[in-house]
Amino acid sequence: MIKEPHLLDDKPYLSTLKKRILALKQEKQAIIVAHNYERPEVQQIADILGDSLELSRAVMKVDAKVVVFCGVHFMAETASILNPQKKILLPVKEAGCPMADMIDLKGLLKLKKANPGIPVVCYVNSSAQVKAESDVCCTSSNALEIVASLPHKKVIFVPDRNLGSYIQSKLPEKNILLWEGFCPTHMRISEQEIITCKKQYPKASFMAHPECPQRLLKYADYIGSTSGMLKYAKNTKAKEIIVGTELGMIYRLKRENPGKKFYSPSEHFICADMKLTTLGWLLHSLENMVYEVSVSEKIRKKAIKSLNKMLMCLPVEKKKTKEAKKVKR
Ligand code: 13P
Ligand code: SF4
Repeated sequence: MIKEPHLLDDKPYLSTLKKRILALKQEKQAIIVAHNYERPEVQQIADILGDSLELSRAVMKVDAKVVVFCGVHFMAETASILNPQKKILLPVKEAGCPMADMIDLKGLLKLKKANPGIPVVCYVNSSAQVKAESDVCCTSSNALEIVASLPHKKVIFVPDRNLGSYIQSKLPEKNILLWEGFCPTHMRISEQEIITCKKQYPKASFMAHPECPQRLLKYADYIGSTSGMLKYAKNTKAKEIIVGTELGMIYRLKRENPGKKFYSPSEHFICADMKLTTLGWLLHSLENMVYEVSVSEKIRKKAIKSLNKMLMCLPVEKKKTKEAKKVKR
């Protein structure tokens, strides 16, 4: 990885850096969107903050030629699939998602061949090629709804085995075939850390992201996406909340709920990829119009179908297979 340009993230230079970003943003008619796990200073300067679903929708609505996507590669790629006429920039080209990299086209095709006619639901944390070979996409905020909407009993879910297992526990009537992918950030937290944190803050409510394994989810008072957690934190009577997801969330939660206290079960709850984007890289991105993320038209046309089905929550067509017939009976 090349050295970060504008190593000016030290406090005395922060305001200069921010001013330059804001001026360039206007000059280039760009908007800055950022995921809830991004660094505080990146969240502060972003025009739009959100979870994966909110950001996909927001990029479609904004009237801007350039979108600087402070997040990881699959997010910028999804934005590009949905908005081919917009220039989508990822400030750090190495910012990826290890979970998305756990499934590739070859693996998915093999699984589909072994399970003909079974619909594939892919978590948005996946490549354009995987989306192109899937029937419908989902994010953590609509995964349950999407899987429940399918008329099939048997469903393939890729790549997150934890989110898939969570859906399975909520939809016992389904038979979900899981891919063995996972988020290393959410897997890093031990059961003991949750127990210790709950003992330390006995009055606190515990909310967790469904990318967490079952060993953590079993303690949760609320399970949901990052936007779901924001709503829960705002509406719950609890004044103290243990946050079962990446540390970047705590910054936003505190900012939006000044009367409440938020605790992390571990100082290691960090997604290294989400933290790669700094103000220095953001400025570099706007100055040089890099790094553009795009998808070949052939893959884009296929991938957009699974994304549109998710956005419109359209039912997936039942293929005439043994499985489909089985469900009918
Ligand atoms: P959401 O913000 O959609 O809940 O996703 C979390 C995540 O891990 C993104 O990579
Ligand atoms: Fe991927 Fe996990 Fe980081 Fe989200 S938090 S980008 S799922 S590694």
